[in-house]
Amino acid sequence: MRPGFVAQNAGMKPPKRLLPLIEEGLIDTVDRQLMSGKEALVYVVGCGGQTRCAKVYKEASRRSFRQAVDYTENRKVKNSRQARAMAKGTRFGRESQESAWQSAEVDALYRLAAAGVRVPRPYNFCDGVLLMELVTDAAGNAAPRLNDLLFEPDLARELHATLLREVVRMLCAGVVHGDLSEFNILLASDGPVIIDLPQAIDAAGNNHARRMLLRDVENLRGFFGRFAPELLATLYGDEIWDLFERGLLLPDSALTGRFVRAAAAVDLEGVLVEIDDARLEEAARQLLLQTVR
Ligand SMILES: Nc1ncnc2c1ncn2[C@@H]1O[C@H](COP(=O)(O)OP(=O)(O)OP(=O)(O)O)[C@@H](O)[C@H]1O
Ligand SMILES: [Mg+2]
Repeated sequence: MRPGFVAQNAGMKPPKRLLPLIEEGLIDTVDRQLMSGKEALVYVVGCGGQTRCAKVYKEASRRSFRQAVDYTENRKVKNSRQARAMAKGTRFGRESQESAWQSAEVDALYRLAAAGVRVPRPYNFCDGVLLMELVTDAAGNAAPRLNDLLFEPDLARELHATLLREVVRMLCAGVVHGDLSEFNILLASDGPVIIDLPQAIDAAGNNHARRMLLRDVENLRGFFGRFAPELLATLYGDEIWDLFERGLLLPDSALTGRFVRAAAAVDLEGVLVEIDDARLEEAARQLLLQTVR
């Protein structure tokens, strides 16, 4: 290299979907692409001297059936024309569905931040791109996912407890994440940060809320149980849902991890939910087939 030469990181050629944000002056530079997920492409971008994160959503037809099911069930649409169009899978319906899906993540981020849950701070939502805080580690780099790390048993127990408390805070704010796992939690310098919320659901208005809450809590248990096996015997999900259903759940409710299931009726309810799920999954499959045709 020539003496005195200073390598400048001018970033990468901006992808097409980010051009409108550059024109609007919301983004100055696109530094690099972070991991590409199932639903979105994520970039590190520069905005007025700050480093931020831009999440560019993929189209509906590229997302999975499973997500479409839980999502279709959940979304409260603003008017009946929209609702009918979404049910029929017309172009207007698909567009409504698409923007509802994307803005659901923005809504959830604001709602959860207000409830004291540690989520990335949203800055803007423009043309299907969410601009938000870049969650960083102590060195200022994009924070790793829990899945990329190993934990001592003590830290695993501590993080499990911290994240259960976040789940409780979310539920107290009426939200179930719906896809919480070691892949959607980053470890920042100030602790765990929950990300990826487009499928977050309204706990009160959705028949699947219980099943999704239990699955979220089981995912935490399974992950941290690899490092602290005694966690595998806990039943925090049932305990949390039971308190919630009885109107007794508070952000700081004491939890034990123990739960005794009341017999009979529960099984029947479970079977009915399964039948309902299968029906909805098929409906969503049909809807998506129409979308890709
Ligand atoms: N605010 C953020 N700060 C730092 N990194 C982030 C942020 N948001 C997302 N990422 C990174 O980008 C990846 C994909 O983001 P996200 O999970 O929101 O999208 P996705 O398409 O749903 O991904 P997947 O399908 O893999 O779950 C994350 O695993 C994480 O590594
Ligand atoms: Mg994700």
